[in-house]
Amino acid sequence: MGLETEIPEADVLLVKDHAPPSSPPPRYAPAHPEFISASVVVPDESSDGPLLTMPNPEVLTKSIRATAQVFEDARSKELLARIELVAPSEANVLIIGDTGTGKELIARHVHALSARRNGPFVAVNCGAFSETLVESELFGHEKGAFTGAFSSKAGWFEAANEGTLFLDEIGDLPLSIQVKLLRVLQEREVVRLGARKPVPINVRLIAATNVRLEEAVKAGHFREDLFYRLRVVHLELLPLRERPGDILPLARHFVNQYRRRLGYGEVAIAPETELKLRQHSWPGNIRELENVIHHGLLIARNAVLRPEDLYLSSLSLRPEAAAAPEDAQDDALKSLERALLMLFEDCHGDLFERIEEVVMRTAYQYCHCNQVQAAKLLGVSRNVIRARLIRIGAISALK
Ligand SMILES: Nc1ncnc2c1ncn2[C@@H]1O[C@H](COP(=O)(O)OP(=O)(O)OP(=O)(O)O)[C@@H](O)[C@H]1O
Ligand SMILES: [Mg+2]
Repeated sequence: MGLETEIPEADVLLVKDHAPPSSPPPRYAPAHPEFISASVVVPDESSDGPLLTMPNPEVLTKSIRATAQVFEDARSKELLARIELVAPSEANVLIIGDTGTGKELIARHVHALSARRNGPFVAVNCGAFSETLVESELFGHEKGAFTGAFSSKAGWFEAANEGTLFLDEIGDLPLSIQVKLLRVLQEREVVRLGARKPVPINVRLIAATNVRLEEAVKAGHFREDLFYRLRVVHLELLPLRERPGDILPLARHFVNQYRRRLGYGEVAIAPETELKLRQHSWPGNIRELENVIHHGLLIARNAVLRPEDLYLSSLSLRPEAAAAPEDAQDDALKSLERALLMLFEDCHGDLFERIEEVVMRTAYQYCHCNQVQAAKLLGVSRNVIRARLIRIGAISALK
């Protein structure tokens, strides 16, 4: 397995397999339970039994993802505009982004905005197959081509004909297969293993990687010619922490999506929860946010998502921050910069005053409520800090 073919207009996910209809497709079982519940297993290539449609299309929301998307941050809007420009072309696309940044979603969106939208979208994870298997899966094989090839089988390229083939984790493709892939892209035809006659194919390729392929090229793990052929258009997805304006809209989107799935009514996000969401560094990106919200909804009470409902990873992406004290200070200033960017997104007219307030109050508390020490720490006069603390009610005018 490893092949998923979607027919967007039909609300059906076809999982082709030679297993009897009662047995679930084996390899998808642990990773994608939603595919099992939504799949129609075709027992035999020649079978022309009735095509089933899903009684509950909601079940498919995760597999047919090209619909609801969030692009609120200015940088995400820029990316969206770029996608809209390049999608209608036939050019191959290379999507680069860390884990969970939305590479597959973007690939589906490119497909949905292209003239191929009514054709299949076939998504394949190149890292999931051994070198021997990946060749027959990609290009197909004839009956008897190798031990165990009991019948002939079309590969992913043929399955994606007239549509889009999405090759995820392209960097994991063995060099020997990279050569063959390059040839297919040049010749626009595939030869099944064990066959002589080429089959013409009309496929747009979208590849994705979470590693810098340039590095892999330099290290000799990835062919340079294939790299250039793939990256005719390249789309770079930023980590979530570098597009903070997306965090809350995404959180609201997932709250809505999951509360519906769970059969809940409206669920509110408490203001402190919003703050916690915006302050986290999201090493697992959008996928992590999605999982945090899903889990949070499972344990939330009284239709409000509270900060204690969020289980955030304590993974730090930059372990070097702990190295030298001056590095740690640089890092803290960078975090402050990020926090400010988030605040700017909300554009309150009195922002400077509110930030000042937080600075004064925090310094005062840090210095165990000693005004002289707090003034020294901030490099301002005691009068300045005293006046401000009185204004915000942290101390009384008599103190
Ligand atoms: N802009 C977006 N709006 C709404 N949901 C999104 C957006 N981007 C990603 N998601 C959701 O986040 C999850 C992760 O996205 P996706 O699977 O596309 O990421 P990925 O980069 O392919 O991840 P991985 O590296 O783990 O394969 C998915 O459930 C997807 O629907
Ligand atoms: Mg992916």
